[in-house]
Amino acid sequence: KARLYSGMQPSADSLQIGNYIGALLQWRDLQESYDAFFSVVDLHALTVPNDPAELREKTRRTAAQYIAAGIEPSKSTLYVQSHVSAHAELAWILSTITGFGEAGRMTQFKDKSSRYGAEASSVGLFTYPVLMAADILLYQTAIVPVGDDQKQHVELTRDLAERFNARYGDTFRVPVPMIQQDTARIYDLQNPTSKMSKSAESTAGVLWLLDDPSASAKKIMRAVTDSEGVVRYDRNAKPGVSNLLVIYAALTGRQIPSLEDEYAGRGYGDFKKGLAEVVVNEFGPVRERALELLADPAELDRVLAKNADHAASVAEETLSTVYDRIGLLRRR
Ligand code: TYM
Repeated sequence: KARLYSGMQPSADSLQIGNYIGALLQWRDLQESYDAFFSVVDLHALTVPNDPAELREKTRRTAAQYIAAGIEPSKSTLYVQSHVSAHAELAWILSTITGFGEAGRMTQFKDKSSRYGAEASSVGLFTYPVLMAADILLYQTAIVPVGDDQKQHVELTRDLAERFNARYGDTFRVPVPMIQQDTARIYDLQNPTSKMSKSAESTAGVLWLLDDPSASAKKIMRAVTDSEGVVRYDRNAKPGVSNLLVIYAALTGRQIPSLEDEYAGRGYGDFKKGLAEVVVNEFGPVRERALELLADPAELDRVLAKNADHAASVAEETLSTVYDRIGLLRRR
């Protein structure tokens, strides 16, 4: 089986529907045909300010949501990034072959550093994509399923792998990103031209996986639309309605034209009610299962530790080859 790698930051108490549709739904299917590794990237979360106790809790909650959404820890390797020290170690090595300008061209860094300001931005925020490259390359990964916003980071990963291989001999498999075009970007319900995000300033337009179902339904009923009153997909003229159609289609496995037909001649109120029902039905069981898992943190920690042992054994092998190739004197 070919290797697959992906991860998410534990940056909020709950994942949002963009993470679910853009990532988790695909992960769940792909774990059947790939040797899949899924991490909760807690080291990445440190690149912005965090409360220590909250970070620990968010890490558990993120792992619980992976499992609740259908990632099976007996099938896939589901673990916490900081449990495998090779990630931080390989990140250092890769940082020495990454250009300063190359890292500075990452749009996510440019966005975030301009949001926080240069003084408040850490060096860790700058080297964030190098750590992500380490995550992927340690496992000799073939494919990396991500949303659209992570594509540039996977491209950098490819560049670093090729550069290392050219300088020191074939060491890393060069991974390819896998992006499901139609669901690669879910937008904020209140601001349907910007990406839905766990770290959005206002959460009025963010649908949380673990939210009370009635709260999610309310947010859908209040979602920004337009004055045309026709349920029709048109990303430029009707970003709000188009986004709701994409979410509806992704959660039901239906095609957008069939939804347009169903709601032809009916108002946005009906359409939103229909979507709210779909979302509540989909999230309800996921939420319940996640809360069940979180009620027994010791068992969850045990599962994560077991998976981390497996991840570490794979990662150590790559790291050891890297140390040899690059000329570090090994301790005997
Ligand atoms: P993160 O935590 O921001 O997001 C996790 C996954 O969810 C996708 N995603 C979305 N997809 C569609 N619409 C949205 N609005 C939306 N918001 C988020 C992201 O594309 C991602 O796939 N740097 C990564 C985590 C990471 C990683 C890795 C990923 C660290 N190491 C190695 C893959 C491989 C991140 O911050 O994702």
